[in-house]
Amino acid sequence: MTDTYLELVNSGLPKTIAKRLGLPRPAKLRRYRPDAPLVPGPVLVLGTILDGEAPDPAADQVAALLLTWGLDVRRRAEAGQQLGAIVVVLTGATTPEQLSSPALQLGGVLRQLAPGGRVVLVSVAPEAPTYSGAPALEAATRAACQGMLRSVAKELRGGATANGIVLGDSVALAAPSVAGAVRFLLSGKSAYVAGQLIQISSDGGALPADWQQPLAGKVAVVTGAARGIGAAIAKTLARDGATVVAVDVPAAGEALAKVANDVRGTALQLDITADDAGTRLLEHALQRHGRLDIVVHNAGITRDKLLANMTADRWDPVLAVNLAAPARITEQLLQSGKLAADARIIALASTSGIAGNRGQTNYAASKAGVIALVAALSSDQRLAGSGGTACAVAPGFIETDMTARMPLATRQIARRLNSLQQGGLPIDVAEAVAFLASPQAGGISGSTLRVCGQNMVGA
Ligand code: NAI
Repeated sequence: MTDTYLELVNSGLPKTIAKRLGLPRPAKLRRYRPDAPLVPGPVLVLGTILDGEAPDPAADQVAALLLTWGLDVRRRAEAGQQLGAIVVVLTGATTPEQLSSPALQLGGVLRQLAPGGRVVLVSVAPEAPTYSGAPALEAATRAACQGMLRSVAKELRGGATANGIVLGDSVALAAPSVAGAVRFLLSGKSAYVAGQLIQISSDGGALPADWQQPLAGKVAVVTGAARGIGAAIAKTLARDGATVVAVDVPAAGEALAKVANDVRGTALQLDITADDAGTRLLEHALQRHGRLDIVVHNAGITRDKLLANMTADRWDPVLAVNLAAPARITEQLLQSGKLAADARIIALASTSGIAGNRGQTNYAASKAGVIALVAALSSDQRLAGSGGTACAVAPGFIETDMTARMPLATRQIARRLNSLQQGGLPIDVAEAVAFLASPQAGGISGSTLRVCGQNMVGA
């Protein structure tokens, strides 16, 4: 589905009129293209000035990492020079005073950020005071970094985004997932991720041998793969090197076969609410492809109604498909002990599950459940014991068949209610799933990554 207003407002006269009238001017987002550079210009790295006026060496460490990717890294901005990205490293900040210099330096160069540019802020989780001295003030300083980031994200224009990376207690700056998250956020793969904080919970994971094919040799199952976001996930995982088993209900068999053919994978017609769905998925993956590494619980349904008018035939299927089935399937897979080491469980949540949404009590209940499900699974030793992770992706307004069914006026308003002033595309969600499925995301587990353009719902 296309956003006609977005197309219109980016062309000739309508662009000028929209500017004069102060109407929303959503920009065309910079999305991943294999032939495009990782970042559209030089990358400026800023850091904290520690007590005693010494620059924090953590910023040098991040600059050195970026140099290994062949980026044009700068430690000082030249006046008027357009920047592809600004990376702010605040892991050493322990007092509010230490935020002043990097914050003001960032402010001074924000107007130099290229269209589709990126701000990435690296800090430490407030709940992890590891220093002696004044842990409460330190925790407050760390949280202050997050408040700044969320607000900067709302000030950017031209399709630029700002996101944060938050290191958990005792996670090293050199952890593979810090590098993985920095690269994801700099790239066009994070086009519709804005104002978010990616939590790095451990030093786990590994850098891929080939950044273009991080999933080479892996086998992935994607449920609800016949269309929409699921089809995009299947294609993106295959692009990244995985062999994909595409799953959907028998009624969607024709579309499913097409997706499976397109990705050179296999199709499995299966209703995920079947009692033995997990066992059947596993058997198919093992018999046809010899292993199972990645499971994406994407299949989902809506049956919207105000709770006052809710009926069992609307409530029950939503909870059964969106929550009970992923939980049961995962349990069967873990019980079998046959998932590969470093397995990835990724479930689709929704911003409705975070903030609630009128008319969606059933859907929001199911998606809030999904968020807690992955959090609980992340500490299940049958998964975590062999390096496995569980995460969720929470899309906001995504242009699919599901949202095309909304009334026109509601749809127009819904897609503008975020910092990027537009809906996302299925590929934007798929890129986040592919990142979380990758080896470099092995230190990210139990959390939910929103792909919502910093949607005001649940902000
Ligand atoms: P869609 O309705 O276009 O596709 C869902 C797919 O799941 C369909 O192919 C359907 O046949 C399949 N499916 C449904 N029940 C199934 C079952 N019992 N067994 C096997 N397959 C089944 O939905 P869309 O928009 O692609 O959404 C995908 C996921 O993303 C869902 O979990 C949805 O809740 C979530 N999501 C979507 C948003 C959006 O804006 N489109 C926003 C937030 C979350």
